[in-house]
Amino acid sequence: MTQSAQQFVTPLTFQALSGHPVHCQLLDHEQEQAMSHIHLARWADCLIIAPATANRLAKMAHGIADDLLSTLYLAAECQVWVAPAMNQAMWHKPVTQHNISLLQQHGVKLIGPARGEQACGETGFGRMSEPTDICRLLLQTDQPGPLQGVRVLITAGPTREPLDPVRFISNRSSGKMGYALAAAATRAGAEVTLISGPVNLPTPPVHKLLPVETALNMYDAVMTEVAGHDIYIGCAAVADYRPAQPEARKIKKSAGKADSTITLAKNPDIVATVASLPDKPFTVGFAAETHDLEHYAQGKLRDKHLDMIAANQVGSSEGGFDSDRNALQVFWPTGSQTLTMTGKSELAEQLLHLITEKYHEKNPTEAA
Ligand code: PMT
Repeated sequence: MTQSAQQFVTPLTFQALSGHPVHCQLLDHEQEQAMSHIHLARWADCLIIAPATANRLAKMAHGIADDLLSTLYLAAECQVWVAPAMNQAMWHKPVTQHNISLLQQHGVKLIGPARGEQACGETGFGRMSEPTDICRLLLQTDQPGPLQGVRVLITAGPTREPLDPVRFISNRSSGKMGYALAAAATRAGAEVTLISGPVNLPTPPVHKLLPVETALNMYDAVMTEVAGHDIYIGCAAVADYRPAQPEARKIKKSAGKADSTITLAKNPDIVATVASLPDKPFTVGFAAETHDLEHYAQGKLRDKHLDMIAANQVGSSEGGFDSDRNALQVFWPTGSQTLTMTGKSELAEQLLHLITEKYHEKNPTEAA
């Protein structure tokens, strides 16, 4: 964050909301020990300056390096993007336009600015592009990702199995793991279809999102969509059973009856059905276990004829259901790998890396 940015939002707010350290000073001894500004520039896959003021663009265009951000820009060897934000007259000023064209000649990419009402009350070009539009553009990189041209179908979240119009049986899945995988697959260049049970998460950048409620809905959606997909990842926590006869009216508490019994019917196993298709995609299942993780995971890998299974310990204090972090033991017919406890976004990147490797090993002619 530049000094000007800190006039609007404090670094502490940014740190709390993002869950990541915020760098502000060029020479901050504490930060420098962890990551120098040169290291920070090397670490980034992409540098995006949003919002970029007229002053910032001028500094960049003329190689002035007098704070952390301008120094990072000079040290960066990755792709640099700017999302300008300024008053419309400042944007149209010839010197600003000259600076923009200098930056473009130096390989900097421009996002926006958008047209519309401005903070100063004027209307015109100069509004920063919407953050979602900036993210979408960043994801459409020129570099083909390792899953470019590959279609990936992912299930995420819980299912809800109705008992009556107002009650259901469900589980603690938040959808975070599946949504992180969907975002990682999109970043890798895949065309992603996400079939999601009821969750409370923002829509990730996917080609298609199909919301469903019950296991039978999810089964139908997967069977309709699966043809033409190259990889299937079953991350949803699908209910194994559903109430056999959901009541059309709210079930009443009957006086004098201490117990009540619900008869359950078995749901179809979606991932096993996908893996039994004649033209099956590379099929990855998950296993959520409270004990004997490897034993049960290997059993599911074998019995459901999967290409890979990602097993997580659930019901413990950290990881698994509804946590921001997780760890996985990944098994495939000829090997295994442990992915240690980390944030679900990072873990999704690591798992997707493994899936990509094994998928291309199995389909060498389709390698990107
Ligand atoms: O959503 P989060 O809060 O981020 O939590 C992530 C998670 C713990 C839900 C996730 O990492 C996970 O483990 N998902 C699978 C949960 C599960 O249902 O595991 P299971 O061992 O019961 O099922 C094994 C596999 O069969 C899974 O791929 C499951 O999607 C699939 N299955 C199960 C039943 C069924 N009827 N059809 C299926 O396809």
